[in-house]
Amino acid sequence: MKVIKVKDKVEGGQKAFDIIKEGLEQGAKVFGLATGSTPETLYEALTESDLDFSDKIAINLDEYIGLEQSHPQSYHYFMNDKLFNQKPFKETHIPNGMAGEEELARYDQVLEDNPIDIQILGIGTNAHIGFNEPGTSFDSKTQKVFLTQETIESNKRFFDSEDDVPKHAYSMGIDSIMGAKKIILLAYGENKAEAVANTVNGPVTEEVPASVLQNHPDVIVIVDEAAASNL
Ligand code: GLP
Repeated sequence: MKVIKVKDKVEGGQKAFDIIKEGLEQGAKVFGLATGSTPETLYEALTESDLDFSDKIAINLDEYIGLEQSHPQSYHYFMNDKLFNQKPFKETHIPNGMAGEEELARYDQVLEDNPIDIQILGIGTNAHIGFNEPGTSFDSKTQKVFLTQETIESNKRFFDSEDDVPKHAYSMGIDSIMGAKKIILLAYGENKAEAVANTVNGPVTEEVPASVLQNHPDVIVIVDEAAASNL
């Protein structure tokens, strides 16, 4: 893994932007995208740029089960609001949180038809990637996941109350994520420091989902000083 330290999330977003720009120049067509507050500065840099994605494909990691696409906390809404409305793609794919479990095979097919060139990842405080919580098999494909209490608590800041946070999600699996040619993991803030240290320097274990990235040949970890403080 290559670790790049930046001073803050604005510089981090710019570094990720530069890697995506270079990827586009080299022919990248399919971009794996993430939600959460972490990639927002990257999406700002993309929307402010003149990069053209109108013949590119976006594939998102995950979606809450039970939220309509129009719900302000759905990942559909987030992606339209932060990126797709300003920067149209030829195709965008996000798991359908209102669908039944037939959605899993459908999404695996989307991934098989469109191998990801560059995958953007955030990280949970428990080192989850996508919504793959500790204990998830490294062999997992798209799956229905049960959010841990830690994740529900981290994400409740976006909802009116903890009870409103969905308890399940559809997420690309760990094996699906590892299929990307290049992966950029972004992490900012003190509360990510332990997860980042376990990911970069700890043993590769299913108890630390992001540690699997040590097995991938092309991973760039972009961290601010606070998130890098345990490295
Ligand atoms: C969510 C998402 C992840 C994201 C993580 C961190 O649960 N499913 O993809 O990386 O939380 O979120 P944030 O960037 O807001 O810290």
